[in-house]
Amino acid sequence: MILNYENVLKEIIGQSGIEFEEIEKLLPEIEKAKERISEKLKTEYDALQLPYVMSLKTTEIVETAKEIRENYENFVVVGMGGSSLGNQMLHYAFNGIYHNMQSHPKMYFLDNVDPKSTETLLNSLDLSKTMFNVITKSGSTAETIQNFLLITDFLKEHFLDPKKHLIFTTDPEKELLRKLSKEMGIKTFDIPPYVGGRYSVLSAVGLLSAAVENIDISVLLRGAELTRLRVLNSDPINCMAMVLPAIQYLLFKNKGVNINAMFTYSDGLSYLGQWYRQLLSESIGKKYDRNGKEIYTGITPLAVRGTSDQHSILQLFLEGPFDKLIIMVAPKDYKSELSVKGEFVNEESVEYLKGKKYSDLIKAEFDGTKAALKKNGRPFVSIELSEIREEEIGKLIYMLEYSVIMLGELLGVNPVDQPAVELGKQFTYGIMGRKGFESKEEEFERLISPESKYTIENDAL
Ligand code: PA5
Repeated sequence: MILNYENVLKEIIGQSGIEFEEIEKLLPEIEKAKERISEKLKTEYDALQLPYVMSLKTTEIVETAKEIRENYENFVVVGMGGSSLGNQMLHYAFNGIYHNMQSHPKMYFLDNVDPKSTETLLNSLDLSKTMFNVITKSGSTAETIQNFLLITDFLKEHFLDPKKHLIFTTDPEKELLRKLSKEMGIKTFDIPPYVGGRYSVLSAVGLLSAAVENIDISVLLRGAELTRLRVLNSDPINCMAMVLPAIQYLLFKNKGVNINAMFTYSDGLSYLGQWYRQLLSESIGKKYDRNGKEIYTGITPLAVRGTSDQHSILQLFLEGPFDKLIIMVAPKDYKSELSVKGEFVNEESVEYLKGKKYSDLIKAEFDGTKAALKKNGRPFVSIELSEIREEEIGKLIYMLEYSVIMLGELLGVNPVDQPAVELGKQFTYGIMGRKGFESKEEEFERLISPESKYTIENDAL
């Protein structure tokens, strides 16, 4: 994995860039932040220990996964946000987006409560051959619990034993799911107490579904562990997990760059962009700093897919405001290969495509976009993976998690809480009539009036 950051530098892209000396000047600050992070490894930054901790606990996950592969046709991950996005990232990165057309067990993600899609999924699956992995750290997220309740209804209707079709992944102590796991005798994996949703992909949250589809989770963890060791032992200036947040921080503070777009050149890797979108926004978007002072800070992440989105959003990146850092991500080796003969078409204008491989074109698009960004003085970094293999993805995951925590430290915010997401959850409980949340319902009534004079109905002529 190589990070190239020359194209954020003033000497290369001009006025919109930063000076290399600014990065150097920030290094003592980064050293201090690194120390603060090390001090909290047993508490709030426990997720950074997962590569090592989980490498000692893979046996049960791998054995359960094997059993599932041998006995079930479908595996459904039921969870929201951080309790699903990491699973999706791993699934699509390694298998591409059409995996279910070719391989078993088929993998599905129930991460919404849209009645239409939920109904379609549950009515289409052969439930007798389906395992549902209900994942919730808090054990109480309304959407996850609603989906879980519905699944139990379906299992009951089909006279199926919940014990044979449900696995829970949740906090070792807290809340409903843990209680139910004991009462119903459901197999349950733990999420370590300090590990929050968006940092949980390297815990049982992400590892079980990955192991079910034969992703080598030991090698994935080894990759993450290699980055962990690199972070511990190398100079900040030689460590991606520190240089990347330094760039993000300096562009944000000194150049007003408050949008970071992850531009991934692979269908499968586009879910890395979705995962990173949550990681960056929930970690950095904060009203208060660590001292309780109002700061309203944050960087808006975008997940952009190459080459497709070159034909939708790139125009804005190239000629719009200078408010974006683009993080270009691509593998060097795409593993699959197609080449085109095109013998039916004898047109001069398409000759250049004949005999070329698909990877030639996607790489040319990647390089062409970098050249266009550079020509327009747009700051970008590129992360090139040797290939989409377990070790490389493990390295990348850890690098991004650490870099976001480092960015949080530089900005003085808590990168592992999400108070506003919790507030939204509480309003939902209040609106839905959950006991203990009556005050939230009243507050909601005051905030959102059912009748407003500022509405326009567009139905009638
Ligand atoms: O990152 C987070 O903490 C959140 O996005 C959660 O993952 C999400 O809200 C789901 O929470 P839970 O796992 O408690 O159901």
